[in-house]
Parts: sequence; structure tokens; C-alpha cells
Amino acid sequence: SDDRRLSRIASTIRVIHDFPKPGIKFQDITTLLLDPEAFRHTIDMFVERYKDKKISVVAGVEARGFIFGPPISLAIGAKFVPLRKPKKLPGEVIAEEYSLEYGTGIMEMHVGAVHPGERALVIDDLVATGGTLAAAIRLLERVGAEVVECACVIELPELKGRERLNGKPVFVLIEAD
Ligand code: PRP
Repeated sequence: SDDRRLSRIASTIRVIHDFPKPGIKFQDITTLLLDPEAFRHTIDMFVERYKDKKISVVAGVEARGFIFGPPISLAIGAKFVPLRKPKKLPGEVIAEEYSLEYGTGIMEMHVGAVHPGERALVIDDLVATGGTLAAAIRLLERVGAEVVECACVIELPELKGRERLNGKPVFVLIEAD
């Protein structure tokens, strides 16, 4: 059942206190990856949701969207597009700036990877303030794609990240505090 799968997934996520700074409770998905059953359940639950949604592109956010995105894209028959930190992609890029706790970040996408009218799914491990997903949505919409939904393994609901996404739906498996 979904409940059984979700509790298996939740039980494998490790919380590390005071990483990367004092006061932060870091949700560590590397321990989920150590449990093949939990990892498989995670991918399966996303694939079941998106397989019949005519998604043509799965866009994965660096770094942990690169772990969850490709198995989903292969299973639903979509292409995978990496959304990367600056100066990593070798071809021509478009870039979006977004706010971080201290300062700003930049996310880049290759020009020509996604075409107007494509149906996109954005994948990351976690939504906190929502700034990262908002930048991903802007990149895809700038090239004329429709972002059908964003999907993450974990949400920190207290940070109200959804409110930064202009009503764009976010599907998550686990809520953490
Ligand atoms: C984390 C996480 C998301 C982002 C969410 O990445 O993996 O990508 O923060 O935060 P937000 O909702 O407040 O924008 P991080 O910034 O740690 O970068 P990394 O994946 O390269 O380690």
C-alpha cells in the first residue's frame, strides 16, 4: 500500500542536526539510497503519478534532483534535462537568479534542450523556501514549456515554499519539520 511504502521511505531519511550550520536540521536522502526497497518505492510512486500525464521532459535540479530524476524520466519515456549551478554546462545557457538564505544562487539550463509546448516535470529532493523550484519553473517557462508539476521527496511545510510558486502544484511524499 501507499502508506506502507511511505513509512518505509520516511524511516530511511536521516536527520542531521546543525548541518551545514548551527540550527539547521538537514534531511539526508543518502540513507534512503542505501535501502534499495525504499529507493525503488520512491521512484515507483513518482512514476505511477506521472506515467500517463504526457510529460516529455523531466528537469532535475542539481544536485539531488540528478539522483531521483533520471530513473523517473526513463520509466515514463521522457528526456532528462539537468538544471545546474553556474559555469557547469558547456553549451549556451539561460540563467535564473534566486534567493538563498545568505545571498543569491544562479541556476542554468542548456539552450535547445527544451522546446516550446513541451510538458515538464521538475524534480528535486526537497522543497524548503521554494526559491530553487521557482527558479527552475522560470527557466522552463522562458523557453515556452508548460511545467505540469514539481515533485520532491521531502517538504518542510513550515517554510511555506508553495507560496512562492504562484499556485504551481508541488507533489511531495514526506513532510518533515
Ligand atoms: C537544497 C535542496 C534543494 C534546495 C531547496 O539544495 O536539495 O535543491 O536546497 O531549498 P529552497 O526550497 O529553500 O530553495 P542545496 O542548496 O543544499 O544545494 P545542493 O543540492 O547543491 O547541495
